[in-house]
Amino acid sequence: MAEEKKFVLAGVMGWPVSHSRSPLLHNHWIREHGLNGVYVPLPVDPARLADALSGLAALGFAGCNITIPHKVAAMALVDRVDAAARRIGAVNTIVVGADGSLSGLNTDGFGFIQSLRDAHPAWRADAGPVTVLGAGGAARAVIVSLAEHGAREIRLLNRTPARAAELAAEFGAPVTAIAWEHRHDALEDATLLVNTTSQGMVGQAPLELSLQRLPPHSLVSDIVYVPLETPLLAAARRRGNPVADGLGMLLNQARPAFEAWFGVMPAITPALRRAVEATL
Ligand code: ATR
Repeated sequence: MAEEKKFVLAGVMGWPVSHSRSPLLHNHWIREHGLNGVYVPLPVDPARLADALSGLAALGFAGCNITIPHKVAAMALVDRVDAAARRIGAVNTIVVGADGSLSGLNTDGFGFIQSLRDAHPAWRADAGPVTVLGAGGAARAVIVSLAEHGAREIRLLNRTPARAAELAAEFGAPVTAIAWEHRHDALEDATLLVNTTSQGMVGQAPLELSLQRLPPHSLVSDIVYVPLETPLLAAARRRGNPVADGLGMLLNQARPAFEAWFGVMPAITPALRRAVEATL
């Protein structure tokens, strides 16, 4: 009798979670790598998060992704948290160990940096000033990963200045908070501009930002991926700046999670990108 392959299981906990593209991504890779298993959406009421996490091992899960609104709360409910997740202050991936213990990771920073490298292989974090718009959870992952990769000057701007000032105080050098009104000055000699605000997302107004003072070779990145080409990226493309869209980050943050659960680092193929783009 042929030996049956072990059934593998992972999923994404969120509330709601039906919009998540993660099942599409991970099930694509499960098939591609010939694994016997499935990745499922796990709608979990915030009041039941601790119960849900403590059930993972008994249910045979290799682990799960964690999405809104559980990313911060989950950090306190796992047995250990890796250094990147601790600095970001949130976990997006949980790995169930052989002993049933839970490790919390955050792969958003990896996903962000890798999306920049995929879009523009010559890009380097230490090449010059970086300008980051927004100071929410997504900004934290972006800032931590840029600092880890050697960014020497991170100009942080947020509509509500106190939030930018808090992050600058928490992360220290190289982060400097700059007033939102001065965002056009903050484009001067920037080598990278990143939008982490919700502006430009479908149903939201575009960012109020002219790129006139941004150098022509600066990389422009938007973590918004619906639409794929935000008004910011369209404006950047028109003036010839290289661009990195938000789908690159979404796809790349999933790769180390899959590797942590199933032992193989999956690739982003054109077919996978097309399959996800078709759902946007
Ligand atoms: P996330 O965790 O996804 O980053 P968030 O914490 O809600 O989400 O942050 C959203 C970001 O978009 C914030 O930086 C927010 O600015 P405020 O801190 O001032 O709220 C920013 N944002 C939302 N609407 C905005 C607008 N109309 N103009 C400029 N920034 C805006």
